[in-house]
Amino acid sequence: MTAPLIELQGVERRFGGLKAVDGVSFTMAPGEIVGLIGPNGAGKTTLINTITGVHPATAGTIRFEGRDITRLKPHAIARLGVARTFQIVQPFPEMTVLENVAAGALFAGRAPTMAAAEAAALGQLEFTGLAALAGKRAATLTLAQRKRLELAKSLAMRPRLLMLDEVNAGLNPSEIDEALDIIKRISASGVTILVVEHLMKVVLSISQRIVVLHHGQLIAEGEPRAVLADKAVIEAYLGTRYAGLIAGGAT
Ligand SMILES: Nc1ncnc2c1ncn2[C@@H]1O[C@H](COP(=O)(O)OP(=O)(O)OP(=O)(O)O)[C@@H](O)[C@H]1O
Ligand SMILES: [Mg+2]
Repeated sequence: MTAPLIELQGVERRFGGLKAVDGVSFTMAPGEIVGLIGPNGAGKTTLINTITGVHPATAGTIRFEGRDITRLKPHAIARLGVARTFQIVQPFPEMTVLENVAAGALFAGRAPTMAAAEAAALGQLEFTGLAALAGKRAATLTLAQRKRLELAKSLAMRPRLLMLDEVNAGLNPSEIDEALDIIKRISASGVTILVVEHLMKVVLSISQRIVVLHHGQLIAEGEPRAVLADKAVIEAYLGTRYAGLIAGGAT
């Protein structure tokens, strides 16, 4: 069996009296796409913040390529090859699209100077179909373009593990198809991907495995269709969503 790329053991993140992430253990193999689902407030974004060191674990261990990263600072974790997109897209509004992507490369230590970072960033803009917008101020982009900018920024960090926090939220069906195409191409380039997603069609179309959080706890994990048929998962989360999917609904 291949060694896991990332391994979480009993990971907990408390905010005061609230355990936003509560004893979560799972692994991801290199090259996998894993869907992370669960109701609002389940702890999905917090788990990403914990893995990236923004809100460090208050208990438990996170290993990346066998190395304990639990207490490392965000920039050190980024340098090892862990990147994420933000659920609330937050580009530097007055900087150009190109400069925003270059900033991602600088943060992760992937370029020695801004000029070198911008040269590399052009490649990420081509990959995500944003090259024509390179010189535009980020503030002028549409939501779909800003979501893509998030992807380009995270790619500039040259991740081994990429965590996508609702990159499809608010997009229309054709924009979602385009985003899925980009995600599949990122996966094909060898990047391991954790996808946080509320759209079940999207989760099913790209995940090789699904992990379900509820009140911070992992309540199910495994092959996508089996997980979505799990009674505890339906009760905690899916209910009407899954019924809608079976009936061909959109959610
Ligand atoms: N910085 C913080 N300080 C205090 N509480 C927080 C903080 N971040 C998150 N929480 C709380 O932790 C819990 C989990 O929130 P989180 O944002 O991780 O959920 P989520 O699964 O990403 O939800 P959604 O699907 O709505 O994005 C919530 O109760 C939230 O209010
Ligand atoms: Mg969230």
